[in-house]
Amino acid sequence: MRQAGRSLPEYRRARAAAGLSMLEACLDPGLAAEITLQPVRRHGVDAAVLFSDIMVPLLLAGVDVRIEEGVGPVLAAPVRSREQIDALVAAPPAGDGLESVAQAARRVVVELGAPGRPGSREHLSPRQRAGLEVSAGQAGWTPLIAFGGAPFTLAAYLVEGRPSRDHLAARTLMHADPSSWHRLMTWCAQVTGAFIAAQVRAGAAAAQLFDSWAGSLSPADYRRHVQPYSALALQVAGRAHSPTTGAPPPLIHFGTGTARILADMRDAGADAVGVDDRTGLEEAARAVEASRAGACPLQGNLDPALLGAPWPVVQAGVEECLAAGQQAPGHVVNLGHGVPPGTDPAVLTRIVAQVHGSADWDATA
Ligand code: CP3
Repeated sequence: MRQAGRSLPEYRRARAAAGLSMLEACLDPGLAAEITLQPVRRHGVDAAVLFSDIMVPLLLAGVDVRIEEGVGPVLAAPVRSREQIDALVAAPPAGDGLESVAQAARRVVVELGAPGRPGSREHLSPRQRAGLEVSAGQAGWTPLIAFGGAPFTLAAYLVEGRPSRDHLAARTLMHADPSSWHRLMTWCAQVTGAFIAAQVRAGAAAAQLFDSWAGSLSPADYRRHVQPYSALALQVAGRAHSPTTGAPPPLIHFGTGTARILADMRDAGADAVGVDDRTGLEEAARAVEASRAGACPLQGNLDPALLGAPWPVVQAGVEECLAAGQQAPGHVVNLGHGVPPGTDPAVLTRIVAQVHGSADWDATA
């Protein structure tokens, strides 16, 4: 669950005690590892998502960016002209920062275990340990999921300089100066691919590419100006080998407002497709089936707004989601987008329990 951590009191305590900004916190391996484990311990979810942010590799590449609470990523200066793009792609990436991300991932993997090797859980209280045992299920370990932002979403932040509704400046650059767009998108693909690969080499078992803003593109523009670069990012990430599983990571590709491009997202090289809450899972399954690569597991797609409804309503929503997920060859139950910060964590715990209690849930799957 994206940004699940911020609804937890233990998350807010850990952040306040450290006194670090969001992006500084991401580069503190001990703190990032601790925050990554919190939702697993509390909710017993079946996987952890590394506490980091899609903007971290850009920060490490020298971009002056911070995350403003309630706003999102804000840059000191947008990257728009050919000169600015050339300066960006010429700067050498800072290697040390990626090492602190990898260190956080390694610490998490020690706690979460690997096939045939249960996690250490040494420094945990009995209650915390119990949380991890639940998620480990019969398999005895809990996977860590690596992630990164897709090139278009990263380019949208770089060009706009802050969150935007329609990404007009980014899409204008795409049409007006295709060669600068190509340089920028290729760089974003390499940088985010390397960020994901570092997490996988540190032990993450699967990886997810977030194209949060891909829904603002027409299918034709997506295919022509975006999909090749997402394919490159997935390729770079997918070449990494996970020491936890001894295999390359299965790749999940997610975006919002993507009903009309789900097949293209699958064909970018994804093994599973994440579906947002504006698209029905049945509709998504049909769309993906029509891709060149064919049907694949789907992830999603509870409406985050549902989390604030009375429990019987939430419960019915979860049932519907589970039933709809049957249309795909596999289903990872998740939200359609981020957890609203004011969410009652107890609701999330109940949803996880309900999904685990559903008839055909298999902890070994
Ligand atoms: O749950 C987790 O902690 C997983 C790690 C994670 C974070 N961000 C941590 C985070 C993941 C997977 C992300 C992805 C991310 N970050 C995306 C793609 C997914 C999506 O939501 O579409 C995007 C677009 C970002 C950029 C970003 N970072 C936004 C829009 C925000 C929210 C700003 C706000 O306050 O509304 C962030 C901040 C952020 N990233 C938080 C966390 C835990 C919240 C920080 C806080 O307020 O304490």
